[in-house]
Amino acid sequence: MVKYVLPQSLGLATKPLPKSRSCRSFPCSLALAFLIFVVVFVFHINTIRLIDMSTFVGHHEKTTQPYRVLYIFHTVDESRLAMKVNPNAMETISSLVGGGENTWEVDVHMIAAYNLTDYKKMMITASFKLAGANVVRIQEDALPELFNKKLKQTHRPPQGLAMQHRFAIRDALNDYDFFVAFEDDIVITRKHVENYIEKSKLLELAVPDTLIIPGFLRVEVVQEVRTDVKAKALSKDFDPTICCGKKGTKSNVMGWEWSLKSFTLIKLPSPVGGIVALLPLLWAGEEHEELIKGGRVMDEENLNGMNTKLFAQQAGIMATREQVKKFDVLCRGSKIGYLPPFSPPVPYTHAVHLEFWSGGFHLFSEKFCKVERAVFFEGEGEFSKHLLYHMSDNKQHRNDLAPRFIRAEAVQEELRQKAIKFK
Ligand SMILES: *[C@@H]1O[C@H](CO)[C@@H](O)[C@H](O)[C@H]1NC(C)=O
Repeated sequence: MVKYVLPQSLGLATKPLPKSRSCRSFPCSLALAFLIFVVVFVFHINTIRLIDMSTFVGHHEKTTQPYRVLYIFHTVDESRLAMKVNPNAMETISSLVGGGENTWEVDVHMIAAYNLTDYKKMMITASFKLAGANVVRIQEDALPELFNKKLKQTHRPPQGLAMQHRFAIRDALNDYDFFVAFEDDIVITRKHVENYIEKSKLLELAVPDTLIIPGFLRVEVVQEVRTDVKAKALSKDFDPTICCGKKGTKSNVMGWEWSLKSFTLIKLPSPVGGIVALLPLLWAGEEHEELIKGGRVMDEENLNGMNTKLFAQQAGIMATREQVKKFDVLCRGSKIGYLPPFSPPVPYTHAVHLEFWSGGFHLFSEKFCKVERAVFFEGEGEFSKHLLYHMSDNKQHRNDLAPRFIRAEAVQEELRQKAIKFK
């Protein structure tokens, strides 16, 4: 994983410049960030890339099509662009492209709620291409116009922006093998995607008649490590670097919207041939060999069928083209298709609900598409590949959420101990 050096760590922050020359304006900070990325990036990947390039030139007869990936993200707040969104997207792009023989062709579709100057667009495009992107599309001023029946007028609320992922996916459906569509502060790595593809195949073969896909759990790297989470034995194979790079450790990678209670354990036949944990909400219980029921045991009054606290919002999806088509069929059965056109229109309350679109209420809830999410935890290092880093690292500072933080590694171990009873 490429590590970015922020200006502070270069000592710029400790030596304040005179006010008139400070780098507060967006173009300046973006330029600065860009400059730093160039240095750090070229430093980190230069060797690998250059070797790749030179071998590539000699292998023009290679006929296999590259694996084509579309990485989509939506972003509401321009002030986050230079220091958060841009570095995150670069990190994700670079990881997805990968190196060596199996380089993927990654196109980027950035959905912004705001307008950008030509200069900023140029900088963004250049930085994404530097990270390895093939084609970069920037969609500006992208807030959907929604009609609020009560107020009898149209609005463009920022919470509706995530809806645009669906249009982006629909329009590009036949051009890509794989879609990665997330919020702007989620770090996705190649390992996540490779594991997702591999586990999807196993699930499809083991359970042909329901759609279970690998699910994701958001984590943050907490500054203050809490030790009140019981874990009898520390997991030997928990890998905090997959989600969180070098700063992740066994004790500081923590989740806040899932716990042991979120999971229902089921036993699946070959080729899974073992126990997996399903995330809430689940409905296909009878078809599975259910061992421990979780997920419905929620710790708060249910919000219109949408339990938020243990739902494990995953802030986006990844899916193959075939899976997207299946999503659409399943969702249409519940009135709101996965892909537009949405007719009848999506009710206003759902349309302006970020978690409906990117959190997963639409795709994963009982009321709508009923796609289920599985987390593998038995095999070595498997649980770690379901963890996604919420790089804003801001939930841990919220008074209502801080007490909910639990160590991901401890939950993995607890799941394993529960599963042992069924062996
Ligand atoms: C973006 O620019 C267009 C064209 O100039 C303008 O109509 C629109 O209101 C702008 N949107 C925002 C969010 O500033």
